[in-house]
Amino acid sequence: METLELTTRQAAERAALSSTSSVDFLPLHGTDYIELYVGNARQAAHYFQTAFGFQPLAHAGLETGLRDRESYVLVQDKIRLVLTSPLTGGTDIGRHVDRHGDGVKVVALWVDDAEDAFHQTVSRGAKPYLEPTTETDEHGTVRRSGIQTYGETVHVFVERKKYKGVFLPGFQEWKPRYQPIPAGLLYIDHMVGNVGWNEMNTWTAFYANVMGFSQLVSFDDKDISTDYTALMSKVMSNGNGRIKFPINEPAEGRKKSQIEEYLDFYGGPGVQHVAVATNDIIETVTALRNRGVEFLQVPESYYVDLKQRIGKIDEEISELHKLGILVDRDEEGYLLQIFTKPVVSRPTLFFEIIQRKGAKSFGKGNFKALFEAIEREQALRGTL
Ligand code: FE2
Repeated sequence: METLELTTRQAAERAALSSTSSVDFLPLHGTDYIELYVGNARQAAHYFQTAFGFQPLAHAGLETGLRDRESYVLVQDKIRLVLTSPLTGGTDIGRHVDRHGDGVKVVALWVDDAEDAFHQTVSRGAKPYLEPTTETDEHGTVRRSGIQTYGETVHVFVERKKYKGVFLPGFQEWKPRYQPIPAGLLYIDHMVGNVGWNEMNTWTAFYANVMGFSQLVSFDDKDISTDYTALMSKVMSNGNGRIKFPINEPAEGRKKSQIEEYLDFYGGPGVQHVAVATNDIIETVTALRNRGVEFLQVPESYYVDLKQRIGKIDEEISELHKLGILVDRDEEGYLLQIFTKPVVSRPTLFFEIIQRKGAKSFGKGNFKALFEAIEREQALRGTL
């Protein structure tokens, strides 16, 4: 009895300590992988290899004993992309694709202790997605757990310190003859979620309270509105800054916000874009364009007074103009960025290519130019 009381008191003290101290209760090393549920993983894998320069890494499917689904794993430097499709009708993956189209299901985060990550977040109110699970093969052991976030999107915590295999237990190395050269994509810089009307604060509070993130910057509809579209955005970051999740919600404009268009077509909240970093955006974007990746075009007028707005930069403005690359500056430096058109059939998921030269912000100064470009696309789709 005495022992039990002591334990309870110790637990209470520890809980009090962790809530008042600045100790990061959810240490994250980075993004472990991003998994998309898609209609045809085999063809999607070919697209991401050919167009974006991802390399084949691993595969799981009929050949590895799965009967209801298959996954292709692609890699480029630190980015791992998993593409998963159902192999039969009536699966949860198939239902997800029917409802949302191709889109991001799992944003997996690399942790040292998947069980602790699960308990820390669930005890703070997260809805469980995957109870702590151990998977083992001849290459070692991986522990995973998972929680739900906005819409049907989930976070999976991956603990892989005792694993030497190519990806996860159950996957086999995938080495096809086709090995396209990489396009210089290095790591995931940030990943943006679109949530419903008046839901932004709910989800930023979720990342703050449940995952221990803090808010970096915010925009409101005065910052980000054009004649037609409007949105609000807040950026949440984990303790070491390796994970950055901007959260957008639509705001009232004269016509339908692009966030609303996303919500309509995705059937609810979901991942809007994945921003990937490069060390040489001119080289990367040139390569991607040559491989068939389509980017949003900004108005000609964007470049007219760019030099006055931005000041001195290393790159030739004419070169940026030719490729449609945008530039923004903050107190710490500048950044170069460009956005692809949607990479799936529905006007939902797209990619951003970003090169940071000191700037730690997200291109607020470009939002207006960007949105005007997106609206031209919306008008073509008849959804403005
Ligand atoms: Fe972004």
